[in-house]
Amino acid sequence: MKVLVIGSGGREHALVWKLAQSPLGPRLYCAPGNAGTAELAENLDIRAEDIDGLARWACEKRPDLTVVGPEAPLCAGLVDRWQAEGLVAFGPTQAAAQLEGSKVFSKEVMRAGGVPTAGAATFTDAGAAVDFVRRQGCPLVVKAEGLAAGKGVVICRTVLDAEEAILDMMVRGVFGAAGRRVLVEEYLEGEEASILALVDGERVVLLESAQDHKRALDNDQGPNTGGMGAYSPAPVVSERWKPVIEREVFGRTLTELKRRRIVYRGVLYAGLMMTAEGPKVLEFNCRFGDPETQAILPRLASDLLPALQACAEGTLRPEMLRWRPEACVTVVMAAVGYPGAYEKGRVISGLDQAAGRPGTVVFHAGTHMEGGRTVTAGGRVLNVTATGVSLEEAARRAYEAVADIRFEGAMWRRDIAARALRRSG
Ligand code: AMP
Ligand code: GLY
Repeated sequence: MKVLVIGSGGREHALVWKLAQSPLGPRLYCAPGNAGTAELAENLDIRAEDIDGLARWACEKRPDLTVVGPEAPLCAGLVDRWQAEGLVAFGPTQAAAQLEGSKVFSKEVMRAGGVPTAGAATFTDAGAAVDFVRRQGCPLVVKAEGLAAGKGVVICRTVLDAEEAILDMMVRGVFGAAGRRVLVEEYLEGEEASILALVDGERVVLLESAQDHKRALDNDQGPNTGGMGAYSPAPVVSERWKPVIEREVFGRTLTELKRRRIVYRGVLYAGLMMTAEGPKVLEFNCRFGDPETQAILPRLASDLLPALQACAEGTLRPEMLRWRPEACVTVVMAAVGYPGAYEKGRVISGLDQAAGRPGTVVFHAGTHMEGGRTVTAGGRVLNVTATGVSLEEAARRAYEAVADIRFEGAMWRRDIAARALRRSG
């Protein structure tokens, strides 16, 4: 059995790592992958955005399953292309991926379906948007409609900030076409959590909860990043909220999509704000979270491969996912300067020592093999991950492993999972 994983980050290494443990013994390929996936899979020299190149490979090699990591190929219609070729891909079609690809579409679906979310207005005209924020007052949130590599959301404390954000997006075009339409959204207070679910078109099976750390520096300071660490479970999502989230977030969203004749298959990721009134959706993503996946998959006791296949084929059953009671923490080691400019090509040492610690696995994100040595090749370099009987033990183990690893210009947050530990302590 052949399985292709598309993408090159820590999320894809975690997927490859979990799939490699399958008793079905799949032969794994990763496009383009990194130095970590190279140890478990055959890396292919094809970029995740090169759908033609990927399709040529897939038509020739006929993988039994293709698992798509990042949103770009999903939003560009990779799954539709696979279906047309008679190939099986795990992930939503282009129409369904609009839940992530267009914040306007996503908000319309939520509003029509009665999904709890922040109130919002959509604008195609900058003047009208500015008038609206002047009337409304701050705080509020300005969002570019399209994919903006996680940078298209601006929290505005003052009307002046909001006007700047609107001008940047709609007049100065800093996000290109993605900013042609904007949403101006009510500011929600609370703690964030990520709830991912496998969806097979009909059934929804929630994964264990997680919390990401989006800001670059400790205590949620500094610029937004792709994510500097994550932990699972997230105690802010207590058991009582899970059925509510399943019904009001996932159930209602899928019912509304169905009404629009859109079938959703794949992972649906709800970024939630746990407000005083209950969970509200901040965003949907149409794929596994990065770095949430690195903290969730080590807790999965059952085989991931049949669950992903069942999802793609419409035969998912809840008992396909069984969880270990352990907690898991993943700490991102990044290159200094990230999310701005950073250097590449720094030699990494201590990986074997770190991986030899109990309950520890080091997922690679931006790494590359060069002359037999592992070197840095991206802003987020490694995801140092550990499980433990408690979040406290998992965090301690992850940070002990971080201390083993060295590369010039390494930086990481010291407070991953600290909020959850304060909560329980
Ligand atoms: P998004 O890409 O929509 O998840 O937004 C990125 C980040 O902005 C989220 O993780 C939140 O921290 C924050 N955010 C987005 N929407 C809101 C909102 N309505 N109220 C408060 N914070 C928000
Ligand atoms: N962890 C945030 C994301 O995957 O979008």
